[in-house]
Amino acid sequence: MTSTELKVTFTPSGRRGTAGPGSTVLDVARELGADIDSVCGGRGICGRCQVTVGSAPGVPASETALSAPGPTETDYRGKRPLVAGQRLSCAAQILEDVVIDVPPESQVHRQVVRKRAEVIAIDVDPVVRLHYIEVSEPTLDDDSSDLGRIQDALEEQWGLTGLTADESLIGTLQPALRQGKWQVTVAIHDGAIITGIWPGFRDVALGVAYDVGSTTVAAHLCDLTSGDVLASAGLMNPQIRFGEDLMSRVSYVMMNPGGEVALTAAVREAMDDLIGTLVSEAGVEREDILEVTVVGNPIMHHLVLGIDPTPLGGAPFALAVDKAVRARASLIDLEVHSGARLYILPLIAGHVGADAAAAVLSEGPHRGDAVQLLVDVGTNAEIVLGSSGRLLAASSPTGPAFEGAQISSGQRAAPGAIERVRVDKDTLEPRFKVIGSDLWSDEDGFIDSIEKTGVTGICGSGIIEVIAELYLAGVISQDGVIYGEHSRIVEDGRTKSYVLGDGSPQILVTQNDVRAIQLAKAALYAGVKLLMGHLDVDAVDEIRLAGAFGSHIDTKYAMVLGLIPDCDLEKVSAAGNAAGTGSMMALLSREARAEIERVATEIEKIETATEPKFQELFVGAMGIPHASDPFPKLGGAVALPERKDPTGRPERRRRRNPGSTT
Ligand code: FES
Repeated sequence: MTSTELKVTFTPSGRRGTAGPGSTVLDVARELGADIDSVCGGRGICGRCQVTVGSAPGVPASETALSAPGPTETDYRGKRPLVAGQRLSCAAQILEDVVIDVPPESQVHRQVVRKRAEVIAIDVDPVVRLHYIEVSEPTLDDDSSDLGRIQDALEEQWGLTGLTADESLIGTLQPALRQGKWQVTVAIHDGAIITGIWPGFRDVALGVAYDVGSTTVAAHLCDLTSGDVLASAGLMNPQIRFGEDLMSRVSYVMMNPGGEVALTAAVREAMDDLIGTLVSEAGVEREDILEVTVVGNPIMHHLVLGIDPTPLGGAPFALAVDKAVRARASLIDLEVHSGARLYILPLIAGHVGADAAAAVLSEGPHRGDAVQLLVDVGTNAEIVLGSSGRLLAASSPTGPAFEGAQISSGQRAAPGAIERVRVDKDTLEPRFKVIGSDLWSDEDGFIDSIEKTGVTGICGSGIIEVIAELYLAGVISQDGVIYGEHSRIVEDGRTKSYVLGDGSPQILVTQNDVRAIQLAKAALYAGVKLLMGHLDVDAVDEIRLAGAFGSHIDTKYAMVLGLIPDCDLEKVSAAGNAAGTGSMMALLSREARAEIERVATEIEKIETATEPKFQELFVGAMGIPHASDPFPKLGGAVALPERKDPTGRPERRRRRNPGSTT
C-alpha cells in the first residue's frame, strides 16, 4: 500500500478497501461491490447514495475524513432530500481513513420487515432498476442508431453490456432522447432488457403483486426499490357468477365450450380494476407500474393466462405449463406501462398451484430443519410437508364444506355469520359470536349489536368450533354421531340435530352437517398422513395454516376435530396470507424468484387420487379427532372425552337435561 492509499470500511456490509487520491465514497464502494444505491450514476441528481461517517476501534468519526461539501451537495435539489448529517457518496471524496455507514434507504439490497400476524422479512433485490444516462448526440461521423447509442452509454456509464430493448419501446426511444436533450432514464428488467425510457431523470418504479383466489382477488402496489407497500386492495372474484367453487367453474367450461374466454375476461377485468383502485389510493399513475407478479391455484393460473382449465378437472390433472411464466403484462390485458413485465410463479403439481409455491416461499419450510406442515385449506387442501432435507406436496379433495357450503345453515364468512362457539359442558347451552359484533351472544347488548344483520348462518370457523365443542361436551361421539336427550338435541327424522341458534332463522347443526365436516377433515388429515408416511415421520414439529380459512379457525379446535395431526399447540399457527406475501417477495426480489423456481422442481409430488393407502387413511380419519391415532400433546392441553367404550358409545351417552328425571 502506498502512503496515498486510505483505508475505508463500509458498514453494515463489513467490506474494506483502499481509496486513492480524489476517490469518492461511491467510487470505492463500486470497486468493492459494497451496497450503495444510485440511479443517476453519480451525477448528484438522485440522492439515493446518502451515507454517514461512522466509527470503529482506532478509526474515530472525523469531520475531516471526507471532503467538505461542494456545490453538488450544497446546491442539491433532488427529489429525495439530503438528510442532515448525511453526505452524497458520489460527491464526498475520501481524505482520511474512514468508516462509512450505509443506511438501509441507500442500500440496493435491503431487508424490509413487514408486520402481519407475525413479522416477515423480505430481502429486496430489485428486479427492475432505473439508470440515468447521458447519451451522445448523433453526428455526421457517428451514424449509430438511437438504441445503439443508449446501449453504448449504458456500457460506458454503468458497465452494463448485452442489453436488449423491449419491442414496445422502439417507438419511444427517439422522442425520449430528443425531449430529454439526450439525457434519459431507462428501466432495466432482470439485468437484461430495457423495458422503459423517460426523458431526463426519473425515480419511480412500481410493481403490483397479485394473489388470485377463487373467491377473492387481492393486489398490493409496491415501490420496487424500497419494498414499501403503497396500497393494497381486494375484491370478489367475479368468476363466482359462473360457479361458486373451482370445480363448478370447470364444469361451466365443459358444458359451454369456449366458456373459458368469459372466465378469463372476468378475472382479468377484476385485476385491471384493482390497478385503478391502487393507483388512485397511492396517487400514482398506471404508467409507473413496471412489474407484475401473479400467484393462484392451477385453475386460476390457467384462466388468468387464457388457458382452458378443463384438463385440470380430472385425472391425470395435466397442466399446460408448470414452470414460471415470464411475459409482458399486456398478455393479461393489464393497462400498465407498455414495457411492464409479468411473472407468474411456478406451479407445483396439477392440484398444487403457484399459490402453494408462494406460500412455500413465504413460510420457508425448505430453509429449516424442523418438519413443517403447511396447509392451505380451500375447496382443495394444498399440503406441503418437510424441511430443508426433503419437501413433499399433495392436494386433498376437502370439498367446500369448510367454506360453509353443504352445511344446512352454512354461509360465507360475512356479517351475521356465527364464527365462534362455546358449549357449556354441563348445561349444553351454547354461546356464540357473530361477524360484525364484538359481543358474545350471552352478553348485554348483543341483540342490539347485531340489529342490522341478525344471525344469518354459520361460517367455516363457526362450524369447526361448534362440532369440536359438541364433541368435547359429549353430544357428538368419536364416530361423529349426535346423540343424547336434551332440549337442544332434537329429532330430525332418524337422526338428531343440535339447536345452536333458536331465533329466526333457526340455526341447526344436523347429523348431515357433522358428516360433511367429517368427510372434509378426513380428506385433509389423510392427505397429511400420506405425506408423513412418504417422509417417514410419526410427528410434525410445526404446523402453519395458510389462507383465509387458516387465519380464522382456532387452531385448537382444528386439532380437536382432527383436521391436523397432534402437535404442540404453540407450534400451530396461522400463516396469514402466505400466498400474497410470496407473490410480493417474487415482485421485489430476483433471488426469491430463483429460490422458488429451484424449490418447486425439488418438491416431490404425491397424487392422493392414485395412492391406494389414501382410502385406508381416510376411513381412520373420519373419527374425531381420529379413530385410532393418539393425540397426546392435544390431550395435555385440552380435556378430551374418553375414547369409546366397547359398545361404541362414550360413557356420557345417557346425558339428560339437568334436573330431568327421565
Ligand atoms: S448517485 Fe445519485 S446523487 Fe449520488
